[in-house]
Amino acid sequence: MNKENLARKFDKQAKAYERRRKQLTQNEWRERLICGAKGMVLEVGVGAGGNFPYYPKDVIVTAVDFSKEMLSSAKEAASELGVRAEFVLSDIESCDFPEGSFDTIVSTLTLCGYKDPIAMLNKFNKWTKADGQILLMEHGTSSNGLIRSIQKAVDPLFLKVVGCHQNRDMEHLFQKSGIHIIKAERHFMNMVHLVWAKPNKNNVTI
Ligand SMILES: C[S@@+](CC[C@H](N)C(=O)[O-])C[C@H]1O[C@@H](n2cnc3c(N)ncnc32)[C@H](O)[C@@H]1O
Repeated sequence: MNKENLARKFDKQAKAYERRRKQLTQNEWRERLICGAKGMVLEVGVGAGGNFPYYPKDVIVTAVDFSKEMLSSAKEAASELGVRAEFVLSDIESCDFPEGSFDTIVSTLTLCGYKDPIAMLNKFNKWTKADGQILLMEHGTSSNGLIRSIQKAVDPLFLKVVGCHQNRDMEHLFQKSGIHIIKAERHFMNMVHLVWAKPNKNNVTI
């Protein structure tokens, strides 16, 4: 699927993401992950700003998304919640930043959508400062065989309707990339990964 069609698919979902952000006043996973963000933050695929309620007040966020509608909702969230942010409408897979640009990189529920998720993780490795951190909340295949086969079966439908894959083995992707995992948790039938990682500057491959 080309990027314009994919971005339009997410445009159509922006209001639903916005409603979810407003209704779900507390999300424990996001809270535990995002409260540790520090300094200059890059948030990729920011969506409707679902992480904004949880950022410490002193961070400055560069928020990237290729969906105009998602970005406009995220801007509204930032102004309501007092998050200092600048917004970039762009395909993150085509972006580049100088090495070590950010103290923290945040990606929640985005690796399921990229054409090349390992290349994106390697970009995170490059863009993070040597003493920085990479915070991830991603969904992938369950460790339960039955659920995994259902995920594989519904993958083409999900890709067509929602624009993201259900059948990615996140653990494998993390291991194949340059990032260095400090702490990881799996939740919800082992489909959801919470990851606290550091960059591995001996392994910058792009
Ligand atoms: C499943 S949503 C998650 C949104 C948000 N991160 C959250 O946790 O609520 C994925 C988001 O990533 C964005 N996205 C997907 N692929 C992208 C790309 N290549 N470049 C920029 N944004 C992208 C979509 O537009 C969408 O807003």
